[in-house]
Amino acid sequence: MSVHSEIKKITTETLRKMKFDKEKITMLTAYDFTTAKMVDAGGVDSILIGDSAANVMAGFETTLPITLDQMIYHTQCVVRGVERALVVADLPFGTYQSNPEKALESAVRMMKEGGAHAIKIEGGKEIEESIRKIVNAGIPVCGHLGLTPQSIYQFGTYKVRAKEDAEAEKLISDCKLLEELGCFAIVLEKIPASLAKRASESISIPTIGIGAGQDCDGQVLVYHDMVGMNQGFSPKFLRRYLDLYSEITGAVSQYVKDVKSADFPNDKESY
Ligand code: KIV
Repeated sequence: MSVHSEIKKITTETLRKMKFDKEKITMLTAYDFTTAKMVDAGGVDSILIGDSAANVMAGFETTLPITLDQMIYHTQCVVRGVERALVVADLPFGTYQSNPEKALESAVRMMKEGGAHAIKIEGGKEIEESIRKIVNAGIPVCGHLGLTPQSIYQFGTYKVRAKEDAEAEKLISDCKLLEELGCFAIVLEKIPASLAKRASESISIPTIGIGAGQDCDGQVLVYHDMVGMNQGFSPKFLRRYLDLYSEITGAVSQYVKDVKSADFPNDKESY
């Protein structure tokens, strides 16, 4: 009898085949065990431990402050909750841009200590050697182009990227380069839908869009945004499936009332 579980795990190869079969890929973020368990049970193909943890878990304004140790901790928590999905973890700002050796060291830590199945890094041509080094070590790499939040101070704004020809052409050539380097997928963030379509058609690895229209091979959203926990954030691309902020604050205020009025705990809830 096999000791392996019956659940068919999603791999980078599964994602490549899904693009070939024209089956859309689903990805959501998670940063902790309990959420990862629910997201995996919901049937998502891939779970991203995004450095958006810096925003939604830690309350920072940008993704820049989160450290590799903190991302490894979040990844360890997520991995323990996942049975099926492909677990992809972001390498945070400053852990791969300076040189390829440092990039490989960071990626190895994320795989070895975090238990990730793959890593994601932001950028194209500028980080070519780092991507080459990580891929050559046998670590699956997901690219990230378009609005790359780790470069926010260079962009100066979170507005749609690559509306002008020069940036659009660079994005297409970066997509081709990332494919050549052996990346298994590319996240395309906040770019015109027509450009994302062109990018997706120009490479054989899957594109996973966020604010990049419906012609990407898959979609990703930040979990806290899609379940409506993050009230102040309402970009055009976001679809909210729940209003958990209201649900949770409502439940908490009911609990406060129940305790204050000595309604909770009642006899049935006592020993
Ligand atoms: O950090 C993150 O959550 C991401 C997604 C928005 C793609 O990179």
